[in-house]
Order: sequence, then structure tokens, then C-alpha cells
Amino acid sequence: MKNRFLTLLVVVLTGMIFLSVGSLTATDEPNEVLIQNKGYEKDKKGPVKLTHKKHNTDYKVACADCHHVYKDGKNVWKQGDKVEKCSKCHDPKAKEGEAIKLQNAFHKNCKDCHKALAEANKPTGPFKKCNDCHQKK
Ligand code: HEC
Ligand code: HEC
Ligand code: HEC
Ligand code: HEC
Repeated sequence: MKNRFLTLLVVVLTGMIFLSVGSLTATDEPNEVLIQNKGYEKDKKGPVKLTHKKHNTDYKVACADCHHVYKDGKNVWKQGDKVEKCSKCHDPKAKEGEAIKLQNAFHKNCKDCHKALAEANKPTGPFKKCNDCHQKK
């Protein structure tokens, strides 16, 4: 009787450990991200919602298509590495070294991919209509 109880306890505890590890990896990649930076010359447009997880799992966009750390011109960032905000390297007001301005970094990343997919007649996201990305202010 006592042994059975112990076995059950071990099973339940192991399950709980797996669950918490599972939710840790789940938070490693955010489900959605609201992109809303400060410091732009004119903050004209509203924030942009990125269906972060969907882009990766449903639209099959690799992490390294959006996240990078360049070393000698090569992207050395890999999954599991720390993720810095884009604004850590891309300044909202000025180009710094090789790093283009923040607004251009986002537009180039998001819109260029959507546009290229449209040109290849593939399902894609918005690149013409501003408000398909930008929410109302
Ligand atoms: C594919 C999505 C997407 C589309 C389409 C898009 N943008 Fe953006 N844009 C972004 C993202 C993401 C940011 C970064 C927002 C932030 O950092 O707050 C941004 C930032 C900006 C900024 C700088 C921040 C600000 O509020 O001043 C401006 C200006 C801007 N966009 C204008 C436009 C205009 C004009 C269009 C339409 C011609 C457009 N965008 C279309 C995604 C998009
Ligand atoms: C379509 C582009 C895109 C893809 C694909 C993508 N990310 Fe992101 N991710 C972003 C953007 C944009 C942000 C917000 C950055 C910012 O706020 O400056 C972000 C934020 C994050 C954050 C930080 C969240 C926070 O709250 O600060 C983590 C962690 C992350 N991504 C991990 C991943 C991992 C792991 C993958 C692949 C499994 C991945 N991303 C795929 C664009 C992407
Ligand atoms: C650790 C610093 C760093 C972070 C964080 C970073 N970038 Fe960059 N990014 C750079 C540098 C440096 C370059 C220029 C690389 C080169 O051309 O050699 C660059 C280039 C780019 C380019 C131009 C690539 C091309 O094809 O010419 C885009 C677009 C871009 N970044 C978008 C983003 C976005 C979006 C994020 C956040 C999800 C981000 N970056 C986060 C440093 C960073
Ligand atoms: C490498 C390609 C790629 C990049 C980079 C990318 N997207 Fe997308 N995006 C897609 C594809 C593919 C779809 C839709 C495919 C479909 O509907 O099946 C999509 C759909 C969308 C949609 C409409 C559907 C939804 O899930 O909301 C929005 C809005 C969007 N993307 C915003 C963004 C923003 C903002 C960024 C930059 C931070 C971004 N995307 C970067 C490929 C990309």
C-alpha cells in the first residue's frame, strides 16, 4: 500500500517536472509580440502585432530569418541563444555602422519577405497596406 502510494507520488512529481520544462520551452518563443518602440523621430504609426509563433510553426519562417548576430558578415545566432531587442543594435534615429535604422530594419525584414512571397505567388502577409500591420494610434 505504502509502496503504491510512493510510486504514484513519483509519477505525479515527474509529470509536474515535465510540464514545467514544457512551459519553459513554450515561453522561450513568445506566442505574439506587440512591436512598439519609442525614440522614433516622429512616432506616426501605431504598434504592430506579430503572430510570432504562427510565423515559425505555420508559416515555416526560421528563427534565424528574423533573429541575428553578425560576426564577420555571417549570422552566428542560433536557436537557444539569447534574443536581444532589434532596437539594441538598430537605432530609431540613425544608421549605426552596418546596422540600418530601426524602422528600415523592420520594414526590410517584414515587408520584403511578404513581397517576395507575393511575387512567387505564395500565401503571404501584408506589404502594401500600412494598416494591415499598423494598428490605429
Ligand atoms: C509587414 C508589416 C508592416 C507594413 C505593411 C508596414 N509597416 Fe511600418 N512598421 C512595421 C513595424 C514592425 C514597425 C516597427 C514599429 C515599432 O517599432 O514601434 C514599423 C514602423 C514604422 C514607422 C516608424 C515608427 C512610427 O510610428 O513612426 C513608420 C513611420 C512606418 N512604419 C510607416 C509605415 C507606412 C507609411 C506603411 C505603409 C506604406 C507601413 N509602415 C507599412 C511594420 C509594417
Ligand atoms: C517573423 C520573424 C520572427 C521569427 C520567425 C521568429 N522571431 Fe522571435 N521575435 C521577432 C520579433 C520582431 C521580436 C520582438 C523583438 C523586439 O521587440 O525588438 C521577437 C522576440 C523574440 C523573443 C523575445 C521575447 C520577449 O518578450 O522579449 C524571443 C525569446 C524570440 N523572439 C525567440 C524566437 C525563436 C526561438 C524563434 C524560432 C523558434 C523565433 N523567435 C522566430 C521576430 C521573429
Ligand atoms: C546584435 C545586434 C543586432 C540585433 C539584435 C538585430 N540586428 Fe539586424 N543587423 C545588425 C547588423 C550589424 C546588421 C548589418 C549586417 C551586415 O550587413 O553586415 C543588421 C542587418 C539587418 C537587416 C538588413 C539585412 C540585409 O539583408 O541587408 C535587417 C532587415 C535587420 N537587421 C533586421 C533586424 C530585426 C527585425 C531585428 C530584431 C528581430 C534585428 N535586426 C536585430 C545587428 C543586429
Ligand atoms: C521570411 C518570411 C516572413 C517574414 C520575415 C515575416 N513574415 Fe509575416 N507572413 C509570412 C507568411 C508566409 C505569412 C502568411 C502565410 C499564410 O497566410 O499562409 C505572413 C503573414 C503575416 C500577417 C497576416 C497573418 C497573421 O498571422 O497576422 C501579418 C500581419 C504579418 N505576417 C506580419 C509580419 C511582421 C510584422 C513581420 C516582421 C516583424 C513579418 N510578418 C515577417 C512570412 C513572413
